[in-house]
Amino acid sequence: MIQVKLGLEQLHEFISKDELLAYDKQIVSAYRKIYNKTGAGSDFLGWVDLPSSITEEEMARIEAHAAELRSKSEVFVVIGIGGSYLGARAVIETMTHHFAQLCGSENPHIIYAGQHISEDYTTDLLQLLDKKDYSMAVISKSGTTTEPAIAFRILKSHIEKKYGVEEARKRIVAITDKSRGALKQLADSEGYASYVVPDDVGGRYSVLTPVGLLPIAVAGINIRELISGARKMEAMSRTVQKMHGNPIAWYAAARQALYNSGKTVEVMVNYEPRLFYFTEWFKQLYGESEGKENKGIFPAGVGFTTDLHSMGQFIQEGLRILFETVISVDKPVNELRVPGAETDLDQLNYIAGKRLSEVNHKAEQGTILAHVDGGVPNMRISIPEISADTIGQLIYFFEMGCALSGYMLGVNPFDQPGVEAYKKNMFALLGKKGFEAQTEELTKRLNG
Ligand code: PA5
Repeated sequence: MIQVKLGLEQLHEFISKDELLAYDKQIVSAYRKIYNKTGAGSDFLGWVDLPSSITEEEMARIEAHAAELRSKSEVFVVIGIGGSYLGARAVIETMTHHFAQLCGSENPHIIYAGQHISEDYTTDLLQLLDKKDYSMAVISKSGTTTEPAIAFRILKSHIEKKYGVEEARKRIVAITDKSRGALKQLADSEGYASYVVPDDVGGRYSVLTPVGLLPIAVAGINIRELISGARKMEAMSRTVQKMHGNPIAWYAAARQALYNSGKTVEVMVNYEPRLFYFTEWFKQLYGESEGKENKGIFPAGVGFTTDLHSMGQFIQEGLRILFETVISVDKPVNELRVPGAETDLDQLNYIAGKRLSEVNHKAEQGTILAHVDGGVPNMRISIPEISADTIGQLIYFFEMGCALSGYMLGVNPFDQPGVEAYKKNMFALLGKKGFEAQTEELTKRLNG
């Protein structure tokens, strides 16, 4: 059963139900493009049936391999950037004890590398790895992305020195394209265990391939439950390719209607700090899929109530281009109540005995109404609890919502031509062969 619920009650004062229903034709047409593979980027639709098509053998291989890596690793390093790391991190951080590494968890601590080029971060990481048993996955579909390639070069040398070349090879996993790319070549020549990123799945849609599943399994999370949740959402989406009875379609229609009414920034809101990286994953998925041809909704994210004390003012009264999508979790895993106090100096006795989650929910409800009063339309996506199953449902919800949104906006939701611009400049400024003309031109511009 689908447990993700979409609440549009606080949207209708801005856009009526009938106005939303007028988008049904566009939804049906976008769905047709996806399932008939007739839209732009149709050779990147492999994610659509990933949950239902993953086999028992594939899951068992990942689980067995993860168990072996877990048995010899206090730390597991995931090297990747963008879609090659955010999905794994989103799920792992959502499902992990907030203080796992300080609480003596039996799971390896998952650490990320190659998601930037910070010299200090990488040096600190090497100092840690000197002291810990570790293994790692290097994840890059293209196999040529600069950030993870630099990190892997450094960590490969470290792990080989630490364990010797033979043992290092058993501790390195490569997840990459099946035939092209430097990483594939290296994995073959070194004999690393490897997994394939399917040709027809782009990085930001790849969390339910080994790109996400292997690190998630190493972290001790049940990948079958994650897949099972995603399967439920996939089945619903395939069965109901229109608005009536399909929350994904309503979400996509509402986004499009809001965009057309001048609301060009979507703020994803959570009230659970463990959802921070889920928001980061969402930002990449939607930002890279929609932001092109001078169009698109800018995806932003805040964590409440924390950010009510930093960004709350802008959301309440700043430029009126925002709408909010709140991810609401009905029940926390644990129970904790506000204690009573004899003196009541802080005047909190009126909530003594209440669960923190009740206070959190009242903060959520109060904030939604305040922001609606301030002119910020609101959508609320709720799940009963955070579990691998509900996170799997949410992943598929947002993936399909993104594809529908992209097609309704009239862009190709599966390419990312704009990502190349910074790379060319960086290569030129670093003096890469073949970029000589740009090197001169860019250096002149930088020097004024
Ligand atoms: O979603 C995408 O396609 C990108 O964010 C890529 O995942 C990112 O640029 C990393 O690419 P690669 O996996 O080829 O190293």
